[in-house]
Amino acid sequence: MCGIFAYTGKNSKNAGEVLLDGLSSLEYRGYDSAGMFLPESGVVKSTGAVSHLRRKMPAGYFGKSGIAHIRWATHGEPTEQNAHPHKDCTGDIWLVHNGIIENHKELREKLSKLGHTFISTTDTEVLTHLIEEHLKKEKDFEQATLAALREVKGTYGIAVEYVAEPDKIIAARMGSPVVLGLGEHERFVASDASPILKHTSQVVFLEDGEIAVVTPDRHEIFKLDGAKVDRLAEKIDWNVEAAQRGGYQHFMLKEIMEGPEVVKNTLRGRLLEKEGLAKLGGLESVADEIKKAQRMVIVGCGTAYYAGLTGEYMLEEHAGIPVEVELGSEFRYRHPVLNPETILLAISQSGETADTLEAIREGKRRGALTLGIVNTVGSTIARETDAGIHNHAGPEIGVASTKALVSQLTALALLTMFLGRQRSMSIETGQEIARELLLLPEKVQTILDGRGKIEKLAKKYVKSRDFLYIGRKYNYPIAFEGALKLKEISYIHAEGCGAGEMKHGPLAMIDEHFPTMAIAPSDSVYEKVVSNIEEIKARKGPVIALATEGNDEIKDLADDVMYVPKTLEILSPILTIVPLQLFAYYFAREKGYNVDRPRNLAKSVTVE
Ligand code: G6P
Repeated sequence: MCGIFAYTGKNSKNAGEVLLDGLSSLEYRGYDSAGMFLPESGVVKSTGAVSHLRRKMPAGYFGKSGIAHIRWATHGEPTEQNAHPHKDCTGDIWLVHNGIIENHKELREKLSKLGHTFISTTDTEVLTHLIEEHLKKEKDFEQATLAALREVKGTYGIAVEYVAEPDKIIAARMGSPVVLGLGEHERFVASDASPILKHTSQVVFLEDGEIAVVTPDRHEIFKLDGAKVDRLAEKIDWNVEAAQRGGYQHFMLKEIMEGPEVVKNTLRGRLLEKEGLAKLGGLESVADEIKKAQRMVIVGCGTAYYAGLTGEYMLEEHAGIPVEVELGSEFRYRHPVLNPETILLAISQSGETADTLEAIREGKRRGALTLGIVNTVGSTIARETDAGIHNHAGPEIGVASTKALVSQLTALALLTMFLGRQRSMSIETGQEIARELLLLPEKVQTILDGRGKIEKLAKKYVKSRDFLYIGRKYNYPIAFEGALKLKEISYIHAEGCGAGEMKHGPLAMIDEHFPTMAIAPSDSVYEKVVSNIEEIKARKGPVIALATEGNDEIKDLADDVMYVPKTLEILSPILTIVPLQLFAYYFAREKGYNVDRPRNLAKSVTVE
């Protein structure tokens, strides 16, 4: 999740300072490099934080307008060369971009043939050359930008500068947010309102498929077909932090609410629906070795470990490869049997968790093929594994992992298709999973839209001091993850349990004060879970059931019911986890805790 910020003013302010200051409030979006361009002073870029960029700014770096960027790499390593702004061949057109250009390879080839020279390995750079190409014909900056954007597939929030018209910024939005700030003889363009608020509270939010032409006293908005759009400015009264949270009370809620977008971004460009295939560019170089592998060991910690456990069910059932799942902290002290026919797959949001990293290093020493499902591009695990899948989930700030898990499960489903279609999975099954994956964003949205009911339930149960979470098969790991979410942010005793294991011990704890969350979607083990719920009800234990929409009979059994839309069994964890995240969130918030920063915990555990 990169951040863009642009400024144009007719006053004594130095655009360089305004931009630098604004970039600092965008740093929460994640950063590996930053850069800016002022037509009057040129470009400056650096890897690392915004403070590094400040140190590199030459004395006298000054201008009245400019564009700036904070990068969180998706395509291309986090280097200075790949940092934005990017320029065209003439050095007259400069651009910053948040998003992913999906057809960048085709465009790059086409433009290279026309004689354009590329400096970076980013998808973004094609945009500058595309505008340059159109400018040759159109002779008009706005028309050239419009024409270029019509050729582009993917997502973007961009700001463009053309040195011949230095007080003008062109901004455009498709899938990545862009907001305009309207000040006195000054205008701003940004990925969110946080860098704008200190200057003005008057903003205009662009919508998808819109382009804005911005000068210090004016802004005009058009659709991509050139039709003019009239939109009134809005006044927002958020502070900077609230703006960073997108107006939500906590990052955790914002990140749960990003679920549909996260699924889309993880899937983007990776599904060949007709062929029933997953196209995973990051695995291409080792596709043959993957095909030959006899076994897979998945390692992770915390939430990533539960993602791995769910992956075990997916991969064994649909790809026919034996899978074991290990906690990073255990793996490194055992004597794991690994060989070149073993795939060692690390799952990690941060890519820096020490135990997971050490597991990968140990696996390498023992000759395994190491793969990663990692959210943070350029992180140590991403760099040290032989190949992998990036989540593209955007940075996660809430300590309790939510959207990263949704993305990890989606990536595991893709990996299952990838391996499965190399092995025993039929084209029909591949097509069925692909079709259903594409429907998931909408289904996650349905759950999110019904969050008011989950909030009420959390309030009803908030006095409980214990909670049991039960599930079977695909939802066995989800029971553990649901319990982990509740304990880590609300500090109550919550326990996950395989539903079938209840009678081997945990059932003894049940009484009228000990509620159970029973994950019971309509799948192949539904009847079994229902029997387990009956056992609990017979001991007077309160039960909240998490069931599939349309299942009314469960209302007679459970005290309360939360619903998820119907989907394939293999994909059901991607839906069932969402109400459990929301339940934990509202429960902890009701208790008045700092949900984003639970006591005693850290977002990334880089020590043993
Ligand atoms: C910490 C975080 C968890 C996370 C775990 C693994 O404990 O609080 O939310 O699941 O680390 O982190 P990773 O970055 O490797 O996914």
